[in-house]
Amino acid sequence: MEIFDMREFDAHELVVFGHDAGTGLRAIIAIHSTALGPAAGGCRMWPYATTSDAVTDVLRLSRGMSYKNAMADLPLGGGKAVIIGDSRKGKSPQLFEAFGRFVESLGGRYITAEDVGTTTTDMANVARVTRYVSGLRSSPGAAGGDPAPKTALGVYLGIQAAVKFRLGRADLKGVSVAIQGLGGVGQALCGLLAADGAKLFVADVDQAAVERACDQYQARPVAAEEVLSLDVDVLSPCALGGVLDSHSVRRLRARVVAGAANNQLAQGEDGTALQKAGILYAPDYVINAGGIISVSREYYGGSEAQVIGEIQAIPARLTEIFERARRESRTTNAVADQMARERLSGHARSRVA
Ligand code: NAI
Repeated sequence: MEIFDMREFDAHELVVFGHDAGTGLRAIIAIHSTALGPAAGGCRMWPYATTSDAVTDVLRLSRGMSYKNAMADLPLGGGKAVIIGDSRKGKSPQLFEAFGRFVESLGGRYITAEDVGTTTTDMANVARVTRYVSGLRSSPGAAGGDPAPKTALGVYLGIQAAVKFRLGRADLKGVSVAIQGLGGVGQALCGLLAADGAKLFVADVDQAAVERACDQYQARPVAAEEVLSLDVDVLSPCALGGVLDSHSVRRLRARVVAGAANNQLAQGEDGTALQKAGILYAPDYVINAGGIISVSREYYGGSEAQVIGEIQAIPARLTEIFERARRESRTTNAVADQMARERLSGHARSRVA
């Protein structure tokens, strides 16, 4: 595998492979940029078919964290970790302690937290051996804990902004939203949207998660293979990345795409197809920053109220991107990427000066 030549490599500062013989840990930590601060991003546990798949994923996610943290005005660079394994069968406290020692060995250049397949309990095990971890249980009023509800809050506010911009609607009453993925973020998002009177359509490969959303929020179930092509106002991808590709974008009938999943666009060009189809895309790393805002405040110290205040800045940031994209006839993802890169390089320049 020619890692330096991969498109996803994109000037990463560091990529390290960790193995622990005792627990069988196989993990990769990627640090894309420390220009704005220590690299921060969650740890994903996933049964990748090949090491090459894991490398591609960690590199894409890590660069996404640089852009996300820059756009959220956080004093953090971008990084990410993956553990190769099945989160339903392969977990043990020792595995996460071994991962924690791996994080510790980087001396603070990388700060970890939860991501798909990892929980606050796992991070508590990581915290036994390193202080470079966040997303732990928090005390009342203090920032921290599971980032998923905070991510959901940012996505909810982002959906409001996108609906206002694209549909001219001031509220979400009667607005139809299809949610793909009903995990920590998807369920919390259902609660916020239902309280506003949105009409919810939900899909998950886990039937129990679908039933929970239908019972609690009067959502209507949709088959997992149909959710992307539903005729709704908003499609909210909250499962995994890469769902918007040349094939799926052709079938999309939503007017807005605004969800939590990282790397929703399989390729940057898929954003062009969305734009041509008149679909407003809320760049994923801008709308889903609520979790990392919480993680950052927890790490550096702060209150829950500060976290919520910072999350409330997400819709204005999205509206700025939407307006600039319309003015310049560009895609929203291209505009967001440029803004993020400007923030990263602007800071690097000001440090040199
Ligand atoms: P989660 O792991 O709790 O939930 C994901 C859900 O998606 C699960 O219920 C799973 O069964 C479902 N799913 C998987 N494949 C599916 C498919 N093909 N069709 C329908 N459902 C499917 O993850 P969580 O925390 O809710 O995060 C959701 C997404 O948001 C992920 O992509 C994650 O990377 C991203 N994200 C999460 C943040 C957080 O704070 N938890 C922060 C930023 C991004």
